[in-house]
Amino acid sequence: MSYWTERLEEDQDLARSLRPESLADFIGQKKVVENLGLALSACKARGEPLDHVLLCGPPGLGKTTLAQILAAEMGAHFISTSGPAMERPRDLVGILTRLERGDVLFLDEVHRLPRSVEEYLYSAMEDHAIDVTIDQGPAARMVHVALQPFTLVAATTREGLLSGPFRGRFGILERLDPYPPEDLVRILQRAAGILSVPLEEEGARILAQRSRGIPRVALRFLRRARDEAQVNGRGSIDRDVAARTLERLGIDARGLEEMDRRILRVLARAQGRPLGLKTIAAAVAEAEDTIEEVYEPFLIRLGFLEKTPKGRILTPAGKRHLGETGSPPGEATLFPS
Ligand SMILES: Nc1ncnc2c1ncn2[C@@H]1O[C@H](COP(=O)(O)OP(=O)(O)OP(=O)(O)O)[C@@H](O)[C@H]1O
Ligand SMILES: [Mg+2]
Repeated sequence: MSYWTERLEEDQDLARSLRPESLADFIGQKKVVENLGLALSACKARGEPLDHVLLCGPPGLGKTTLAQILAAEMGAHFISTSGPAMERPRDLVGILTRLERGDVLFLDEVHRLPRSVEEYLYSAMEDHAIDVTIDQGPAARMVHVALQPFTLVAATTREGLLSGPFRGRFGILERLDPYPPEDLVRILQRAAGILSVPLEEEGARILAQRSRGIPRVALRFLRRARDEAQVNGRGSIDRDVAARTLERLGIDARGLEEMDRRILRVLARAQGRPLGLKTIAAAVAEAEDTIEEVYEPFLIRLGFLEKTPKGRILTPAGKRHLGETGSPPGEATLFPS
């Protein structure tokens, strides 16, 4: 299953019920939770809306969840849109003018916001006002419209792509890191409770260890393990059920899935020659963005892939891992040396 179908499935079924609804229910990311908790209590005490928040980090770590929690904690509405959906400044006008005091406007994938829209946001963020053009042709005129003070919560997987002036306008910037296995175990246990599926300690540990630090991935494993337990197991997710589920999904001992191994194999075939992102993307038939945001960071973290100025290369550890998991016969000879 690809990253995108995984997100779809999550949207469709259980995501809502599995999403923690208060900061106290949010597991892990201790520093982030502390900082946001402090900011929340302070502005609630002052009776003011929360400062604008920028959440950065790889996909599936809980940015959307945190944004929803902030709105819930503020007792405010949650209005959600995304960078790519905002093509022109005027796409924002309707949304901004309808906001009520303290509302949370969530802007996902904010690095994909066109520059013109970004600049249009500046006065909304700083002065709670925007300039709107009404009428057309010679009758056209600019009207200064006051907005209710609101909180912009923006999320990005690519902090580096944001402009300095934009980043500087967020009073709160938090970065989410991959979760350690113990946190993922707790996330799984909480979700298993909600789904009423018995999850044994060891089953949870196996699923957590291979989830590459990402709750979304861990929860996907949990859904599949629940199926496995129902159909083939004894009803509960024990060690065997967890292991069998991962095997079926093609997840190896280090948590690599087929796409990770495909990327490593492409690099292996290059025999030390650095490869560009485009080349890799074409060879494995996956979007460049997805490779860069989803697969590569994990492979780099494991020390299997290295980014050099000239391109990506396979490390000796990566090569060893491929050797252990075995590459399909024939593939190694595709590239004549
Ligand atoms: N700390 C957590 N505790 C419990 N569940 C979590 C936690 N973080 C994330 N989740 C769950 O993981 C899933 C993914 O979270 P979410 O959609 O918020 O990620 P995201 O960072 O917004 O990802 P993306 O960038 O891909 O949109 C959700 O189902 C959410 O309930
Ligand atoms: Mg999200």
